[in-house]
Amino acid sequence: MLSTTAWSVPNPTIRYDGHKVLQILPKTIEDVHELLSLAKKYHLDIWKSPRYLNETFDVRVDPEQITDFVNDIEALGLKANHWITDVQKLIDEISSGRNRRATFSIGAFNDHASINAYLDSLASANPHVTVHTMGNSYEGRAIKYVKISNNLGVNKKAIYADGGIHAREWLAVTTVLYFIDQIANNPSRDRTIDALLGKFDFYFAPVVNPDGYEYSRSHDRMWRKNRRPVISGCNGVDLNRNFAYHWNPDNGGSRNPCEEVHAGTHATSEIETKHLQNFLCSHSNLIAYLNVHTYGQYWIYPWGYTPILPTDYRDLDHLGRSAATAIRHTHGRTFTVGEDTRVLYAAAGGADDYAKGACGVKYSYTVELRDTGLHGFVAPTSYIIPAGEETFAGFKAFATELVHYE
Ligand code: ARG
Ligand code: ZN
Repeated sequence: MLSTTAWSVPNPTIRYDGHKVLQILPKTIEDVHELLSLAKKYHLDIWKSPRYLNETFDVRVDPEQITDFVNDIEALGLKANHWITDVQKLIDEISSGRNRRATFSIGAFNDHASINAYLDSLASANPHVTVHTMGNSYEGRAIKYVKISNNLGVNKKAIYADGGIHAREWLAVTTVLYFIDQIANNPSRDRTIDALLGKFDFYFAPVVNPDGYEYSRSHDRMWRKNRRPVISGCNGVDLNRNFAYHWNPDNGGSRNPCEEVHAGTHATSEIETKHLQNFLCSHSNLIAYLNVHTYGQYWIYPWGYTPILPTDYRDLDHLGRSAATAIRHTHGRTFTVGEDTRVLYAAAGGADDYAKGACGVKYSYTVELRDTGLHGFVAPTSYIIPAGEETFAGFKAFATELVHYE
């Protein structure tokens, strides 16, 4: 169903009153395993899994479970820090003010129909921009992307970024839109952008999971997957576990359709995955790909399915570091650079692995935007512009360095 409502952020019907996000610091590797099995026992929504012992485990707990869960944590000799004390309060802050508008703005969380209309209007106003559709989502929404080129007649080497593969990660959508605005309109007349347009073509798809995105706006702010009904009562596949490169639901995903990381019944079971795979492999000029997510502040590269490093990992690492340095110089945030499984966790069937492994897109990354847990998935409106600025600074540094590597 496609709808344009008068308010662009309606209040979702599922509420998270009294839900807390707890941060727990595991002391041993056994603690990590215990925490994961507790999360399974209580069917908790894991916001962040630790990779190293000095990293926290972030998990959302509802008010009915909190006492039992905290008792179990304390029985392990660990402390649960009440990091976000009321998830609904964060959601309500965003549902008010300037997001409650139907008109598109780079500084707001826009609905999918307005985003597509913006891409169309950009293309009709700007001779360097063309708009295309990868295909339609399960519920029939057009998955659009723009191509930005200073010479649409020749194919240059190209860089592609997409957002919104996970529905609730709204800041990924706004950040890709920020990139589009900067490169297409160059509002600050930045010569670096002109230089980059002399070298590369750019492709951007701000919302690759539009059904999930709209559902997270209208019904459940915490929705992650797409919306296809899989079994009665449980909808959705985690698209970033569904790609056809070393697909394996037992490696960081799940065979259970009711879980957040359900990998599908087989690789490419989802129409959205299929469109994205076709896009990635059919554009042979692609040399770089950013699959943008929130949160955690990482700029990471394949493989996600194995800790074995790609043979050219030094190149990927070097360019990732150029990005992270530029990000730090913008608003002071630190982004961790490294291989997926080593800095985050193993998860097979990711878009980054597919782009590199199946389509040969050498510089393929997952970028996890700000923050490190203060707002987590519920990024406030006040993050939109600064996150755009810092990530775009990283993007420019990355692309500038890429010129020398190609
Ligand atoms: N947070 C992302 C996810 O869970 C990280 C993906 C990293 N890439 C990978 N192939 N595991 O989907
Ligand atoms: Zn994500």
